[in-house]
Amino acid sequence: MTYILEVVKKSIAALAILIVCGTASPQTSDPWWKHALVYEIYPRSFQDSNGDGVGDLNGITSRLDYLKDLGVDAIWLSPIYPSPQVDFGYDISDYEQVDPQYGTLANFDRLEAESQKRGIRIIMDMVMNHTSDKHPWFIGSASSKTNPKRDWYVWRDGTAPGPGHPPNNWQSIFGHSAWQYDAKTGQYYYHKFYAQQPDLNWRNPEVQKAMFDSVRFWLDRGVAGFRLDAIPTLFEDPDLHDEKVLPGTNAYGDPNLDDARTNNLPEVHDVLRELRKLTDSYAGDRVLIGETYLNNIHQLEEMYGLKQDQLQLPMDMQVGFINKLDVRLFRSRIQDAESELPAGDQPLFVFDNHDNPRSIDRYGDGKHNLAIARIVAAMLFTTRATAMMYYGEELGMVTSTPQRVEDVKDPIGVTGWPKEKGRDGERTPMQWDAGKNAAFSTAAKTWLPVANDYKTVNVKVEESEKASLLNWYKFLIAERRKNPALRDGGLTMLNTDNTNVLTYVRKGTPNVIVALNFSAQPQTLSVDWKATEVWTLLTDADSLKETKSLTNLTLPAFAVWIGSAE
Ligand code: GLC
Repeated sequence: MTYILEVVKKSIAALAILIVCGTASPQTSDPWWKHALVYEIYPRSFQDSNGDGVGDLNGITSRLDYLKDLGVDAIWLSPIYPSPQVDFGYDISDYEQVDPQYGTLANFDRLEAESQKRGIRIIMDMVMNHTSDKHPWFIGSASSKTNPKRDWYVWRDGTAPGPGHPPNNWQSIFGHSAWQYDAKTGQYYYHKFYAQQPDLNWRNPEVQKAMFDSVRFWLDRGVAGFRLDAIPTLFEDPDLHDEKVLPGTNAYGDPNLDDARTNNLPEVHDVLRELRKLTDSYAGDRVLIGETYLNNIHQLEEMYGLKQDQLQLPMDMQVGFINKLDVRLFRSRIQDAESELPAGDQPLFVFDNHDNPRSIDRYGDGKHNLAIARIVAAMLFTTRATAMMYYGEELGMVTSTPQRVEDVKDPIGVTGWPKEKGRDGERTPMQWDAGKNAAFSTAAKTWLPVANDYKTVNVKVEESEKASLLNWYKFLIAERRKNPALRDGGLTMLNTDNTNVLTYVRKGTPNVIVALNFSAQPQTLSVDWKATEVWTLLTDADSLKETKSLTNLTLPAFAVWIGSAE
């Protein structure tokens, strides 16, 4: 099986005409992030340069040519700041330094300079909801009730003196009460995540000032923007009303709770507006990306701000985390992003990150996983959304969950074992080649084991195989960059009654038609689109390479067909 990797000459001619007419040619005034591919790197796991078994900044720098070749526009670096590493960097003890495990500020500057040479931008992960309990701010805050930093965190009395009487029923996302008793001062502090991640009190203006100073520190160093960690959780109900108890229990054995008192409070938007003013005061279209797990497109819309004065790119988790190949759900969620957001709100789609089992496993049926991975990639790169992906996704790296609790590194995998085995599985080292440790590290032991399949699933092997997933990604990324319909064309769903095949058109001259068979059976359809000429851009079905018509198109099981139509 070989993919069709050539756009026929005709489309090049059509593109030339378009540019002459100036009708639908790429909008050159668009900010860079609108058509970008943002690639998430989990620094511990990408490339180790000093043989300690943990990835680092110099390692990333050494792999920039790979990223450029793939077509990456920006790297989102998961946190690289000094940290006790309880939550592997999401517990920050200094916002203006680099953790020695990952290198130095000088290494960071070199990474930035080398990235810039290759047209790649750097996006930092900014964790504003909480710090590490080892951050000097919290150490001060916990030292006495009268410390000037006391009010920088959320301290409250329990319902009775002593431990075991938290102020209310709120729970940590990572299990059990969200209140930690502090014997020294006899009060509790609030932590939405681990107890080692105390929540900052965003109702105190000094907190905002200090955090914005750190934001400036990185903007001054030239970063292109921020991915804002857990941003909807900045505020809590100041009156500490209990959360509503819902039926059932979670993986930690705690009752399920509503989260209306601790998540997505309206005050978040005031902070985002201020932060946007700050980033907009810098030249170069700095971008704010949000980690926004929200319930629907309308909550997402609020994250952009009614005047588009908050986040440029809140992540649309409604699409990538449907977690089953359901044509109707994908059709309606992609359609929502297309038509329910006001003009100018740019959607951002993402299927993979460091917190969820890899998409190949979430969507795969165990038999057709690679074909399904090609479908996922097709959706990521053929809608109008900005694309975000996670290292190794382009290789089909799988989730390698620890088999024994004693091997688990992510603390929630210990608290939640065996129902919740933690996030180690999606954080295993990048697979570069078939050599020792997949060429991730020369260490005797890497911080997490390299996944078993690294001898066949790796960059080197996949670069040499025409039909590899890596080459599929490369083709889609390149085509999306140069094809005017894929760049800017509106999206309309077609054949909307079909429950097996997701079909849509991206409008342009020529149009691009995408047809994805979500089923294990061949499907024949006549695409609801009039065209006099049709030709294939990309397919994984040999039988579809010579497609000349949209009538009676037969897609084999889980096949992808992407074509042009005039
Ligand atoms: C975000 C991060 C996750 C982290 C949590 C607490 O969800 O993506 O990895 O554990 O925030 O910072």
